[in-house]
Amino acid sequence: MNIAVIGTGYVGLVSGACLADKGHKVICVDSRDEVVTALREGHCPIHEEGLPEILERNIGKTLSFTTDLADAVGQSRLTLIAVGTPTHEGEIDLSQVETASRQIGQALRDATERHTVILKSTCVPGTTRSVVAKIVKAESGKAEGSEVGFGANPEFLTEGQAVPDFMDPDRLVFGADTPEGLDDLRELYAAFPDAPRVETNTPTAEMIKYSSNVLLATLISFSNEIGNLAGAVGNIDGSKVMEGMHLSQYLTRMTRRYGREMAQISGFLQPGCGYGGSCLPKDLAALVKFAENCGVDPVLLRAVGDVNRGQPKVVIDLLRKELGSLSGKTIGVLGLAFKPDTSDTRQTPAVPVISELNAAGCKVIAYDPVVKDDESISKAVDLRAADSVDQLLARSDAVVLITKWAEFSDLPDRIRDMPDPPLVVDGRQFYDPKDFTSKYVAVGSGRID
Ligand code: UGA
Repeated sequence: MNIAVIGTGYVGLVSGACLADKGHKVICVDSRDEVVTALREGHCPIHEEGLPEILERNIGKTLSFTTDLADAVGQSRLTLIAVGTPTHEGEIDLSQVETASRQIGQALRDATERHTVILKSTCVPGTTRSVVAKIVKAESGKAEGSEVGFGANPEFLTEGQAVPDFMDPDRLVFGADTPEGLDDLRELYAAFPDAPRVETNTPTAEMIKYSSNVLLATLISFSNEIGNLAGAVGNIDGSKVMEGMHLSQYLTRMTRRYGREMAQISGFLQPGCGYGGSCLPKDLAALVKFAENCGVDPVLLRAVGDVNRGQPKVVIDLLRKELGSLSGKTIGVLGLAFKPDTSDTRQTPAVPVISELNAAGCKVIAYDPVVKDDESISKAVDLRAADSVDQLLARSDAVVLITKWAEFSDLPDRIRDMPDPPLVVDGRQFYDPKDFTSKYVAVGSGRID
């Protein structure tokens, strides 16, 4: 099938490249000249395992890039909208979806064949119908059903493993309000016959996406509230509390006698310095606002956000408890990415933690294996970069682990023989407290006697 993909961010680029790899003819559209030029030359703008190889394999064959949206839509039977949907003061900003819909509608005015427009961006329930379909129909003058169709097909890619997530999906969600729209979605994903799927109307598909992300955020904030309580009581090992919960039959699957397989969701039942990324905080905020606009008071969802916003302060309180006044102290921050295996720093908890440290009068140095010279971070907070973990350790009074990079796993060994090792504050319950011979505290536990 000939497909146009509007937007070459994480979702658009990964979806476009993977669909091309599965045999569709894909044209990816981005309004930014420099992005399109770089992609045409095969430069992958994001750190995503396997993506450079897929680009190399398909560029010039089934995958191309352009800034000309009308031309791409004109050559295609189906268009995927994968533009950004940021939030402003919690409210979702659909202006990029509106612009894309307008341009797609205009491009379809003279179309002689039926065209389908699928919304892939994460949008509040009702967007496909009340924004995309409405604008495309008005601009194109086409009739829904026979001339133009619509669908919602949210994506469930996790940054850092987006390619395997796309190629081996846990689920496919097809939202369509007409039989033709559903048929097109089935054809689009014909190469994934075994993937579990939900076929439904467009607002339900949109709601599935929000609910899925907000569940993850809720589990993290739940764990943080439990962890904060454990920390306040003292001598409660928060990691063991979680381990005990993870072993419940509801979260593990018996594989053989005494053999148990942990459900992946257990990874979200873990106290720490809070969740970040481009999805969880934004989607939670948008759903809270959406609920309020619908006259529903989202008590639980609002609390999920409140707990998360409080977690950086928990890190600072732990430091204060151990070091006393923080003024003039040097604090080393291990990890700037919002999670390991990605260079993405959007909504990373590193920023509020560092900002609190700045306010407390600390000197902050940071090391991340991948994130270097990140403008959004250097604009927001005051920090110096360390060249290596060892350099950071040597210069710090305390180190705070923010990102669970594998490179940080040997920290206990690295500091064991230091004459004056820094205090370690584990913002992710990444380490086993028993591995430390020097001072170690973890968010969600505090100090264990
Ligand atoms: C999230 C969802 O996991 C994806 O299913 C969804 O498709 C995606 O949003 C999206 O809407 O596009 P992502 O934001 O890439 O994916 O990253 P996650 O791995 O979910 O991480 C989000 C936050 O949860 C991070 O701050 C991370 O530290 C935390 N997390 C992640 C955990 O606490 N435990 C884990 O096991 C994994």
